Amino acid sequence: PERALEAMWDQEPKTLEELNAIIAKAGPLVPGATQAVFGEGPKRAEIVFVGEQPGDQEDLQGRPFVGPAGKLLTKAMAEVGIDRSKAYLTNAVKHFKFDQRGHRRIHAKPTTGEVKHYRPWLMKELELVRPRLVVALGATALLALTGKSTPISRSRGIAQFGPYRGYITVHPSYLLRLPDEATKREAYEAFLNDLRRIHDLAE
Ligand code: URA
Repeated sequence: PERALEAMWDQEPKTLEELNAIIAKAGPLVPGATQAVFGEGPKRAEIVFVGEQPGDQEDLQGRPFVGPAGKLLTKAMAEVGIDRSKAYLTNAVKHFKFDQRGHRRIHAKPTTGEVKHYRPWLMKELELVRPRLVVALGATALLALTGKSTPISRSRGIAQFGPYRGYITVHPSYLLRLPDEATKREAYEAFLNDLRRIHDLAE
């Protein structure tokens, strides 16, 4: 499989800037995205957080995790003492995909094929950042990091993603979608507990 990943480069990127230029040039698999949304954070961050794909706000602003789910993640990180500006935040898929409903753009989940298309870029990103810990936020990130579809409920916690120490937790958008306040609060507390462990593991 490593060979197959190598074959895609005409010129192997040696920096995140070179990698991002390749992603920008490739453009979206599905037309519609405003721009590619690259990973953001220090070049040598200790923790990499991997999400699914940019949402509406991320697509417009060109930055990962700036919409509602991103704001919740940023708040949760701050609550456990993880400085967002010291972490590296990225996505399995680098372009927003959506269904148009009137003037609204509704997030559409990436297919397995789309996740696979972007996977070598994510792997290269990890190789360039060389973090101590890689965090999968939700099932799409987990699929991208392992190549396998596994429910979060059965895999949550400490993991290993190839050479990287890993941690699996829910995606913050899952917390936003929960129906009632009590369930939401409980799920948010569990998410904070995961982030505390993540903070400790990256020490
Ligand atoms: N959800 C994601 O998975 N990534 C983002 O950047 C924003 C929302």
